[in-house]
Amino acid sequence: MPERALRGRRFGAVAVTLAVTLGVVTTMVATPSSTTPPIAAQPVTGCPPTRADALGPFYVAGAPLRASVGSGYVLTGVVRAAGSCQPITEAQIELWLANDSAVYDDDHRATMLAGPEGEYRFESNPPPPYTGRPPHIHLRVSAPGFRPLVTQHYPQSDQTEATFDVVLSPA
Ligand SMILES: [Fe+2]
Repeated sequence: MPERALRGRRFGAVAVTLAVTLGVVTTMVATPSSTTPPIAAQPVTGCPPTRADALGPFYVAGAPLRASVGSGYVLTGVVRAAGSCQPITEAQIELWLANDSAVYDDDHRATMLAGPEGEYRFESNPPPPYTGRPPHIHLRVSAPGFRPLVTQHYPQSDQTEATFDVVLSPA
């Protein structure tokens, strides 16, 4: 093999080794010199999607439309779109929690629609702990054009009200 070709092959091997060794650095150097800014220079978008959480075994679809299933704990928040942070009017919010005896029943399930600014207000008994789980309220939030989100809200100790904004990802 001619020496020139051999050198080319060696250079290629070195380049591959560098690429593997340097990883991200190599990628940044290889970025085309267009108007695309480096990753680190891109603006941070607001309203990251709310973290999903377990559905659990007690979800039942079709709970009555109501904003209260008890008293002693008030949960308020706004439903927004990831990235744009725009409120999602009439997002459907399903909530369920255990009753004062730490049992799930139909009296402690509700469906709500977010208001014109994406807002909601839900009142219930203070969610109790049960079988090793911390107190929590389950939520399933959905809206046309967005992926349904299943999550949970965990009150702090002795808290009687809280704000829990929900951010949905586009479908
Ligand atoms: Fe639960």
